[in-house]
Amino acid sequence: MCGIIGYAGHRPAIPLLLEGLHHLEYRGYDSAGVAYPLGGKIQVVKSAGKLSLLENKIAGYPAQLATAGIGHTRWATHGLPVECNAHPHLSQNGRIAIVHNGIIENFQEIKDELAARGHVFASETDTEVLAHLIEEDKAQCSSWLEAFASALKRAHGAYAVAMIAADEPDVIYAARMSAPLLLGTGTGECFVASDIPAFLSYTRDVVFLEDGEIARLQKSRWEVFSLNDLKKLSKKVDHIAWDMQAAAKDGYRHFMLKEIMEQPRVITDCLSGRLVREGGAWKVRLPELDALPEPSHLHIVACGTSYNAGLWSRNLLENIGGIPVDLDIASEFRYRAPLLRKGEAVLVISQSGETADTLAALRLAKEKECPVIGLCNVVGSSIARESDVVLYTQAGPEISVASTKAMCSQMVMLTLLSLYFAQRAGRSDGELADALSSLPEQLSSILPGLKNRAEQLAVKYSASRNFFYLGRGQCYALALEGALKLKELSYIHAEGYASGEMKHGPIALIDAQFPTFALALDNELFYKVQSNIQEILARNGRVIALVQANGEKLADLGVEDLWQLPQAHPVISGFLALPALQLFSYATADYLGKDVDQPRNLAKSVTVE
Ligand code: G6P
Repeated sequence: MCGIIGYAGHRPAIPLLLEGLHHLEYRGYDSAGVAYPLGGKIQVVKSAGKLSLLENKIAGYPAQLATAGIGHTRWATHGLPVECNAHPHLSQNGRIAIVHNGIIENFQEIKDELAARGHVFASETDTEVLAHLIEEDKAQCSSWLEAFASALKRAHGAYAVAMIAADEPDVIYAARMSAPLLLGTGTGECFVASDIPAFLSYTRDVVFLEDGEIARLQKSRWEVFSLNDLKKLSKKVDHIAWDMQAAAKDGYRHFMLKEIMEQPRVITDCLSGRLVREGGAWKVRLPELDALPEPSHLHIVACGTSYNAGLWSRNLLENIGGIPVDLDIASEFRYRAPLLRKGEAVLVISQSGETADTLAALRLAKEKECPVIGLCNVVGSSIARESDVVLYTQAGPEISVASTKAMCSQMVMLTLLSLYFAQRAGRSDGELADALSSLPEQLSSILPGLKNRAEQLAVKYSASRNFFYLGRGQCYALALEGALKLKELSYIHAEGYASGEMKHGPIALIDAQFPTFALALDNELFYKVQSNIQEILARNGRVIALVQANGEKLADLGVEDLWQLPQAHPVISGFLALPALQLFSYATADYLGKDVDQPRNLAKSVTVE
């Protein structure tokens, strides 16, 4: 998502900042900017759009003498992706500048207070509010470090921030709370960045900041303090042995694995500023949709994994959101002359925002004057631009061809959408909102165990030539996704089926060589799935069952491999099952020596029909 770079050293800062920003481009952005102290003032240069536009603009500024500065690539959250909302943001008197990644959840409250005291804001961002607050706090503090800490203590939410001040032109301040930020410590120069590749060409010595830590950097000195009491902390310097390409993979063997493992962070980013507590209750904020009349019917249209995410959400949108839903594969929808009535809306789901069939479906809906909501990951993509309203999934760039974290982010957004429609109708589901807010933590805690179990099962089942994936209800969509992932990556033939359909054909194929991956999670359909598993066992079929507490019941039946997930809210259980399916396919393909990130014959973005 947003990318931060800061430099204090002996070289011209601007080229280094721009180079760092290029290395952070993979995070996705829609505007960029830099700020540097020069001649007793702070100079800010920023631009909407790509870095090349910023580079062209900087060429006209006297920047060569600056040896410190901060830079930022922004992925819009508060306010449009326009120049005035791009970072860095200045304080009221223009004597400090900050860049920020994350969301200050209580920014409106602070903004109102500051406005009442005469502050005037140049942007719609939460970040600018923080800059103003730091400047105001400085009046009561003896140093910028104290003022920085004092303002941050008032900020709620997730953030990584870097700051420069005009009267300390060789110093960078930085702080981290639930958003990535680390220091690079070179000889006569220090860096701060959202990710290692931003400075890896200059130093491999890295200090990882923890939540609640604040740093002060100069060219030959760096210090880290605790945000709470400004006590100096002793920090370890790690030496990075990876090269640039491996660094982009964050140390993982493949992008796919990295993307699976970063799903907790993706969920946090997706929820940030959208699921908020107000007056003791959960509120869903999707301001993009506020002006859209509530649709009487929603037609979901998508391809591949995005279609599976749509299918997964149907029950939620209907039962929680109260909106009738039908679903189409985009290549079918575009040619079947769909009946779209007044008051209805089309929801297109696409990670890339460029899938040809989905785009054609969108255009068809618009031709029929049906409003289109786009659910996209890539900012500024065709689908994002052509939709009447766009909701960004904010998963960050997905590089592996097989989609993983994008589906997770789509599922989060679709859950939020269901809660949002419920809220508009005066209903709420506090239990689901609670469970959703603690999902990132819960998922983080189980991912390493899921990876180990996936590796064991992959070795055991990798010789299979065929696989069934079975599930009911929302788990039917996950069964389709599990089968899709396995065939995409490992080239093992796999079919996803609604468990209840087994008897209508597929059961004829079951024998000891044809294993089944059953999603038997704890929900009202568990006993139905259990019966289907019994039927498979009765035909000597081998079964892997993804289970929760009810798993014991399947152990008694003789299921060969139980894969245990913790108990969770039934909707949230899907988010725990998804990485298990992804990791099983990943581990199988990796064990078989397949090209995991770029499977044969497949493309990340299918821009032709
Ligand atoms: C391709 C990709 C899939 C993706 C599908 C839809 O087939 O390989 O991973 O699910 O396109 O892509 P979209 O970008 O529209 O979500």
